[in-house]
Amino acid sequence: MQAETHTSPKKIIFSGIQPSGVLTLGNYIGALRNFKLLEDAYDCIYCVVDMHAITVKQNAAELRARCLSLAAMYLAVGLDPKKSLIFCQSHVSAHAELAWILNCVTYMGELSRMTQFKEKSAKHHDNINAGLFTYPVLMAADILLYQTDLVPVGADQKQHLEITRDIAQRFNSQYGQSFVVPEAYIGKVGSRVMSLQEPTRKMSKSDPEDTYISLLDSPEVVRRKVKRAVTDSDASIRFDAEEKPGVSNLLSIISVLMDEPLESVTDSLQGEGYGGLKTRAADAIIETLAPIQAEYARIIADKATLQGILDEGAQAAARRANRTLDKVKRKVGFAPHGKA
Ligand code: TYM
Repeated sequence: MQAETHTSPKKIIFSGIQPSGVLTLGNYIGALRNFKLLEDAYDCIYCVVDMHAITVKQNAAELRARCLSLAAMYLAVGLDPKKSLIFCQSHVSAHAELAWILNCVTYMGELSRMTQFKEKSAKHHDNINAGLFTYPVLMAADILLYQTDLVPVGADQKQHLEITRDIAQRFNSQYGQSFVVPEAYIGKVGSRVMSLQEPTRKMSKSDPEDTYISLLDSPEVVRRKVKRAVTDSDASIRFDAEEKPGVSNLLSIISVLMDEPLESVTDSLQGEGYGGLKTRAADAIIETLAPIQAEYARIIADKATLQGILDEGAQAAARRANRTLDKVKRKVGFAPHGKA
């Protein structure tokens, strides 16, 4: 039972974001916003997953800066380091260690079915490295190390959560109860924010600039991008993700950001035309981003404080992660050493 491995009375949340580019409105709606909404009810652990980021080529200086920038964004959306653990994955070596052990209970066949691997290897065909292939195992290690109950993510990570559950169950049945089997937490609306230019594709930071909203875009840029968003020629404002992906995407964005049911957003826009829909969407985005951007500017200016938060976060995370890792090492049959 879960209680056996839990020391905390609150259920545990773990999630992570790669510091691999600017953060988009998709990252905010699918993940960051929920991180904040869940912060009080759960024992939360939020990670800057820099080891995942190097599965595609990175510039070292830029990656270093982006790790701090992502941590600053965690704080800028309102996460409180006194309540949530915030740290960098590479600072806690237990992630890599557990990933190795889990590699040995994960099958090539199941990894080769991962959509993200197929997509990324098509995109980076000159660098189809083993890390890209075993990426989901490292993700499973991230989650399982902390006896996580719930993982808030966007819909694109569902398959990775399923393999994490499979790995946990397999390990538990081979070696005895070691891991809590986690659940994905995927929001009902907004779990897949779509590209502004190709609304049948997910909004992604690796696509051209005019397809996504960056969390640091100025109001003028947001208005311009939303104004140019692809809709359709039918001119009716209703939610229909299949037939009207562009319009539905804008309606979902407004609904989530304004915390208003889709139906009432749709009703209130009748007769406004696509111009009105786009103005409402841009207003909602600008209103959401303004306080986040102001906080971000303040936090990123004080690197020493930020570094201190990450250092403390890593120490606390390592203590917790090592409890699971030590137990796992014992179970797989590694000989004990001095500190145990
Ligand atoms: P990453 O860095 O690609 O994205 C971070 C989070 O943002 C969500 N997301 C979206 N949600 C809705 N609409 C979109 N267009 C959109 N784009 C991105 C993602 O679903 C994700 O929740 N493998 C993970 C990082 C990771 C992780 C973990 C997550 C590593 N270890 C452990 C949870 C737990 C990833 O690549 O996310």
